[in-house]
Amino acid sequence: MDKLVIRGGKPLYGSVEVGGSKNTALALMAGTLLADGTTTIRHVPALRDVHTFARVLSVTGARCEFDADGHRVTVDSSTVDKPVAPYELVKRMRASFYMLGALVARCGHAKVSLPGGCAWGPRPVDLHLEGLKAFGAEVELDQGYVIARAPSAGLPGGTFMLTPSSVGATVNLLLAAVTARGGSRIENAAIEPDVVEFSRMLERMGARIHGIGSHTLEVEGVPTLAPVEWDNCPDRIEAGTFLIAAAMAGRPGVPISVKGVLPDHLGEVFIDAFRRTGCELILDGTSAHVVPPERLQAVSIETGVFPGFPTDLQAQWTVLLACSEGNAKVHDTVYTDRFKHIPELRRMNVNAIVVGGEVVMEGGRRIQGAHVMSTDLRASVSLVLAGLVAEGETHVLRIYHLDRGYEDLEGKLSRAGADIRRERYDEWADPDPE
Ligand code: EPZ
Repeated sequence: MDKLVIRGGKPLYGSVEVGGSKNTALALMAGTLLADGTTTIRHVPALRDVHTFARVLSVTGARCEFDADGHRVTVDSSTVDKPVAPYELVKRMRASFYMLGALVARCGHAKVSLPGGCAWGPRPVDLHLEGLKAFGAEVELDQGYVIARAPSAGLPGGTFMLTPSSVGATVNLLLAAVTARGGSRIENAAIEPDVVEFSRMLERMGARIHGIGSHTLEVEGVPTLAPVEWDNCPDRIEAGTFLIAAAMAGRPGVPISVKGVLPDHLGEVFIDAFRRTGCELILDGTSAHVVPPERLQAVSIETGVFPGFPTDLQAQWTVLLACSEGNAKVHDTVYTDRFKHIPELRRMNVNAIVVGGEVVMEGGRRIQGAHVMSTDLRASVSLVLAGLVAEGETHVLRIYHLDRGYEDLEGKLSRAGADIRRERYDEWADPDPE
């Protein structure tokens, strides 16, 4: 098993590059199943989740090739003949559940494993299932699998209101609706950039979607979609992660650049909170330049659906607060129990108290290096950020969580000045006798 070993205190400098968006790429890959032929997606990050999704597509009979070095995925869906997504793969990555909408649309029926929960709690899929039913599919559960079936003439389409607004359910329902026999309407649709970019690719493939970027999507079903070549967008969460890293581990007054930042994808709420810490943030096309202040001011935040503060940057923000002057609160309204990183940060002398759906962070304490455990993707990157500024050495264990969503994080941070290396270790080795 791998861990990252970080010797803290080395300031970041220079620049760091953002890769392609993980969450957008997964939706785009599901969309390739709807085209009759070979679709190519460029700027796909070399991540575990992408490799997993390539396996999920191949199980259906599609010919999927992922050129990790070239960051390119090609999917020939003309050979799809097995509308199944097995538990062994779905349990590794929740986004595999997108296969439900894609396979019902493509094959008229699907057998897809229910995703489990995740490190921080239940992740229901009731909206996905109720929405599919509203669009005319028969849906039943059988031994941990969802069995969905469209009428022989194809899905008629329908209207469904998402409560709450759900990224995944919006993607799944779009996959089902774009080649339905009739029209469909998705109310309170998610407007995260991942959904907008995904909708744009479907549109390029011939889908008829009105209201892209709004909370109401009107879809006119079309008989088939055409394969396309599509450029994935940069990863807004990786961009936000590096901006936070620059703010807390950069030198006061010395600019650090993050390349591949789309301000519109970060959203005004995050940008405003970031500037209220005292950081200067200069947005220049797809580059952002961060000038850290002498002392960071603690800024309380509340996460929300887009364009609110992204829940996927919540854990990283708690570490920024630990490095700031004063106390502040973080309230996650999307996932009220997404605080598995807090007990690990407390091992690093960070003082934080979780009360209900929020955590109160005390700033200004010396962060100490320690052995800490990754529990999920964003929690693990928050531990790496803490290690950058900790006194001494930090060992972030079980970084298979991190490898799901950050490509070559240690390489990118090393090139920006960090002392960070990957090491293999035996999770079950007995400690050396004292
Ligand atoms: C997507 O997950 C992202 N994953 C998550 O990123 C992200 O945290 C989340 O959206 C919120 O932005 C991918 O895009 C692959 P949701 P998703 O459905 O679609 C509730 C990361 O770190 N809900 O928008 O699963 C749900 O419980 C990952 O990259 C229902 O109640 O999130 C939550 O409270 C982690 N019923 C809220 O909606 C449902 O059927 C938002 O969840 C579905 C969701």
